[in-house]
Amino acid sequence: MAGNSEKANPLLGKSLTSIKELDKGAVERILEESAVMLKAYESGARLNALHGKILANLFYEPSTRTRMSFESAMLRLGGGTIGFADPSTSSSTKGETLADTVKVVSGFADIIVLRYPEKGAAKEAAAHADVPVVNAGDGAGEHPTQTLYDLFTIKMEKKRLHGLNVALVGDLKYGRAIHSIAYALALFGNDMTFIAPKQLQMPEGITKELKDEYGIGITESDSLESALDADVVYIPRVQRERFPDPEEYRRFANYYVIDKKFLSRANKEIRIMSPLPRVTEISTEIDNTKNAVYFKQSAYGVPVRMAILNLILGGSLAKEI
Ligand code: NCD
Repeated sequence: MAGNSEKANPLLGKSLTSIKELDKGAVERILEESAVMLKAYESGARLNALHGKILANLFYEPSTRTRMSFESAMLRLGGGTIGFADPSTSSSTKGETLADTVKVVSGFADIIVLRYPEKGAAKEAAAHADVPVVNAGDGAGEHPTQTLYDLFTIKMEKKRLHGLNVALVGDLKYGRAIHSIAYALALFGNDMTFIAPKQLQMPEGITKELKDEYGIGITESDSLESALDADVVYIPRVQRERFPDPEEYRRFANYYVIDKKFLSRANKEIRIMSPLPRVTEISTEIDNTKNAVYFKQSAYGVPVRMAILNLILGGSLAKEI
């Protein structure tokens, strides 16, 4: 920790609206700090690095994990939280714009965590807020802090972030967690397999960017067979609320299912990951296998978000652990 604190802090005072704002060094720094947080957290140490700081959770879309784990992370660092989980109780119902809301909340809190139904909302909010804004999901855009604990999970399970065969499966079109993790895996030089029905494949712009700007090899397929050899399968739910046509959602809702039969044929060391919530795409029959790591993954949300908050807000832990 002492060594780390001597290195420049790449997140200090900054917003985090897209995973593309982080270079490899910044991601590695966050993951190192997350490991320190995990250790402190597991040892039961009482941390006070963010004592006196306040986080505002502004959630305009449903959330269990993201909102509560940010809150837990802030409380575990000795800080406090305010906010809303249901926008119908906020002044947005009176017609207040997002820009005005974040401007006002900047006077109440040291950092804003925002979930909003429109792509680009976090960037817009960051432009109007006087405190850092963390994107906790902007419509079908991105979910960068999800990706950071996804990477932490991969590192814990596979001991590396490069040279992996990762299959992204299912709703690659609307899944914001998918978009962010694809950029991050590309940053670490991983080739990927995108498995989706044609209608739900990765947006063309993203695939092109990954190939042209990151030089990544991408295989597109619509068959789950292509995931059997993977080191990691990442499969979020099909994003029902983003489909303009409910009939189309129903067509694809049960398109892929990871079950015992799949695992019996797959690479024995495969790891199945999901940002959760799970609907039907992962059978509960695999929950107790060593391959299923999604619950462990969601618990890592706390130490990783502790690291993110502590870096952005410039808290120091060196004296405490
Ligand atoms: C994800 C999200 O909101 O994008 N959930 C989460 O934050 N863990 C994925 C999802 O809703 O399917």
